Amino acid sequence: MPRVRRTGEVEVKTENINHAFLDGVLDGSHEDVYYHVGVASADPILDELRDVKAVILAGTGERIIKFADRWSELNGGSQVSPVIAFPKEDRFVTRYTAGVLFASHGMGMASASIALQELMRLVFFLKRGNLKALDQVFWCRVGTSGGVGLPGGTVVVSSEALMADLQPYRLLRGGDGEYWFDGRFPADTHNAIIAANEGIDDLTVVSGRTVSGNEFFLEQFRLDGAVCLETPQTKMAWLRWLDENGVRNIEMEGAMIAGYLNHWGFPKFAMICCTLLNRLEGDQVTATPEQLRKFSEDSGAALFNYLRASLLGA
Ligand code: URA
Repeated sequence: MPRVRRTGEVEVKTENINHAFLDGVLDGSHEDVYYHVGVASADPILDELRDVKAVILAGTGERIIKFADRWSELNGGSQVSPVIAFPKEDRFVTRYTAGVLFASHGMGMASASIALQELMRLVFFLKRGNLKALDQVFWCRVGTSGGVGLPGGTVVVSSEALMADLQPYRLLRGGDGEYWFDGRFPADTHNAIIAANEGIDDLTVVSGRTVSGNEFFLEQFRLDGAVCLETPQTKMAWLRWLDENGVRNIEMEGAMIAGYLNHWGFPKFAMICCTLLNRLEGDQVTATPEQLRKFSEDSGAALFNYLRASLLGA
């Protein structure tokens, strides 16, 4: 029987943090090199980030740069809140301003897991391993998705993210086979994001379960890939099964992100994704560039409504 480790929602679980490696970084025995973002624990640039209150993840660097500029503007502009860029950008784009670290994660769980692991190590170092301080940090992925029974342009705040078989994210490990991760998002944070977006004109925000496919085509049961393993019947049976099980959208990172953050017991994290299409009606993304821009802006708006409420009290 595979094991599901359910972590609590209130406290960082010290036993799940990789102390064997990370404690030596804190006591100066060795440096930690955050290779994919081009900084190391001894870099003076990190002193500017000690006050980090939130880590925002998005697929593309372009989005990260826009988010950081906007957050800087909301915090007095570049004179008051300068935007700090990490030096290496060939894999991920990272910006810090006014207490928020923004980082791109690329596409899919393989890519996003690299960004997330380095950012978790980085935040552990920034907070000097202090569990209470780590608990205060808010983590959020803001992305795009395919809707299940929802039209393009709906913003989904995930309650849980699972794999295409509606089981948790899991990986092979030595000894006792697969390790299963907990894909639930903390209810308090999820509810606070919904509340921060209530009654806003022209913004539809709903709650739902999310499926994270390992692939855009095959593990999302599309019929329009170069390689196709489904028929119209098997595709629709899968989508209806998701719909019946409360799944509202499909993307490619959330089950891993929730799993790793739950593994450390972080209590404040979320995923906010806009839908680009209703998968019950088709596979191809045919929205116009204007529609896609609006969809993307809407998930950003939902995030910023929460950040303003939670970090600026506005
Ligand atoms: N992202 C996905 O992973 N799937 C979609 O259908 C749209 C965006």
